[in-house]
Amino acid sequence: MFACPAEPAAEPDPDCNEHVPVLLDEVLEYWITDPDGIYVDGTIGGAGHAAAALAELGAGARLIGMDRDREVLARARRRLSAYGDRVDMIHANYAQLEHALDPLLRGRISGVLLDLGVSSFQIGDAERGMSFMHDGPLDMRMDRSGGTTAADLVNGADVEQLAEWFRRYGEEREAGAVARAIVRERTSGPITRTARLAEIVCRARRRHERRIHPATRVFQALRMVVNRELEHLEAGLEGALSVLAPGGRLAVISFHSLEDRCVKHTVGAHRVRWLSLQEGGVRREGLMPPVKWITKKPVMAGDEERHANPRARSAKLRVAEREPGEEE
Ligand SMILES: C[S@@+](CC[C@H](N)C(=O)[O-])C[C@H]1O[C@@H](n2cnc3c(N)ncnc32)[C@H](O)[C@@H]1O
Repeated sequence: MFACPAEPAAEPDPDCNEHVPVLLDEVLEYWITDPDGIYVDGTIGGAGHAAAALAELGAGARLIGMDRDREVLARARRRLSAYGDRVDMIHANYAQLEHALDPLLRGRISGVLLDLGVSSFQIGDAERGMSFMHDGPLDMRMDRSGGTTAADLVNGADVEQLAEWFRRYGEEREAGAVARAIVRERTSGPITRTARLAEIVCRARRRHERRIHPATRVFQALRMVVNRELEHLEAGLEGALSVLAPGGRLAVISFHSLEDRCVKHTVGAHRVRWLSLQEGGVRREGLMPPVKWITKKPVMAGDEERHANPRARSAKLRVAEREPGEEE
């Protein structure tokens, strides 16, 4: 594997295939309200959160697992097979959450969990091309049944577009220099491997940040564009709120500021606020369905978990509860 010039000290490698669920105790504490309720894990992944929730829930509870990645879903199905027909699995994008569920379940869901991003299983599989740590085809799609790959973007987009993506989705300060280097390099042949892209990015950047690999931000940006992550997140949050029962909870774990901001604003727009009117009386503000925050500030991992699981260092959990009120 190519080593960046002046590469910062390596982080513990989070790319092992065993996915360790983050903020597990906190999710169980905040998410589960009805021991016999119906729960939707919209990002079932390695089923770590789901397995722990099922172990706590009563015999009357049901769990519906969803993932846009078929391979991940098949693994989760195997892991939870002991729960029989208490568990259903749906291959779907959570952006379609309300349509993917049985319409009879609308308004009856006790909890929806969205644990954003990708699992260690996906990052650790070189063939998916999501990581600069393993050489593989420059793909990055979570759902490989169709859509644009990272190679399509890197070889097809112009300098301005690439720089805009790196700036917006990677918060990459040297976005222009990296974009220009990519466009220059691809004249000698298309960029089709993760190692080659990582090498180009490393050479193009003049400043290296402490504790993060120089290609981290560019890889994150491309993955977000390939999988249209923020767009789907916003739709998924709205869909999740629309299926919750009154008193049901939406728990979201985000891993970077763009995701967290999206959660805060999209869900926050449903928060009920009462405005005093000059002429007397009050007016209710906030989108339907109404919610209240259960977590006033995002919940973060404690020292022990941050030390044991590097992914947990940037994890933020926000939980909102559906309040009684008319449907949209
Ligand atoms: C961080 S992992 C979830 C890990 C899981 N909570 C566990 O404990 O094992 C995120 C999962 O969400 C899936 N995912 C990401 N975006 C999605 C989307 N828009 N719709 C459905 N699944 C998605 C990924 O394929 C991945 O399996």
